[in-house]
Amino acid sequence: MTAPAGRDGAMTGRNFGEEGGRLTYGSYLRLPELLAQQVPQVIPPAHDELLFITVHQAYELCFKQLLHELTAARDAMAPGETWRARQLLQRVHVIERLLVSQIDVLETMTPQDFLQFRAALAPASGFQSVQFRELEFLSGAKDPQFVGRFRALTDAERAGLARRLAEPTLWDAYLGLLRSTGLPVGNDDEILASLVTIARDRARHDDLWQLAEDLLTHDELAGLWRARHVQMVERQIGTKSGTGGSTGAPYLHKRVPMRYYPLLWELRDWL
Ligand code: HEM
Repeated sequence: MTAPAGRDGAMTGRNFGEEGGRLTYGSYLRLPELLAQQVPQVIPPAHDELLFITVHQAYELCFKQLLHELTAARDAMAPGETWRARQLLQRVHVIERLLVSQIDVLETMTPQDFLQFRAALAPASGFQSVQFRELEFLSGAKDPQFVGRFRALTDAERAGLARRLAEPTLWDAYLGLLRSTGLPVGNDDEILASLVTIARDRARHDDLWQLAEDLLTHDELAGLWRARHVQMVERQIGTKSGTGGSTGAPYLHKRVPMRYYPLLWELRDWL
């Protein structure tokens, strides 16, 4: 029996992975560019500043991926592709759990080591993460006031935020799905009644029930990140004010109970 052409390097005269010869691991992933982006600022150098930069950049990469997945999940709802929206939301959940546990990495830094470079960061702060705010807007928590509180946005960042404020949220898309199924969504009372109908007749509305549960998990995991982040903040800086100019932990504590889908939580009261 002859082996399929190209399976054996000895037969083709090429090594695995060299076919075509144009791309390499490093060029495909743009590693020279990527690995040149971790640039500590403080003098004299502080050992943990590299960790601080790398962890934040890893978050921003994941935020980019989450925006990609959540946008697609929302867009899958309009044509009624609940299976697709659910699959994407489940990927979102796994990434979000990773983001919660990734806080552990930064917590290996001691407050004393953080103080070696913290002063040099001001007024930069995670508060200025445009992608984080885009995630909130897309998920359902649109608060235009945040845009005004950003310092020195680029034109592209401002346009991105404006676009997210203008376009439908995941919740809007879910309500559209209910409407197309004939369930009333004119006001909060109607929506709640429709959610109760769905919950009580899962045999008929299983796809809508499961999708709502996936949205709720997304909401829950976002809240878990906020709670975990403020714990880390208190561990690092106690009740000192933030480099972004807020009160620090007191501000962050106020944000922990925020919910994207309050009606999905209230639904529990009615079951
Ligand atoms: C030593 C570690 C950290 C400390 C001490 C810290 C501290 C703070 C503080 C005090 C705030 C309030 C705003 C301000 O006045 O600055 C804040 C907000 C924020 N931080 Fe962090 N942070 C840390 C790590 C991170 C990481 C790893 C991320 C990941 C991206 C992050 C993302 C954010 C976001 C998105 C906000 C805005 C939260 C909101 O408005 O609800 N932070 N941080």
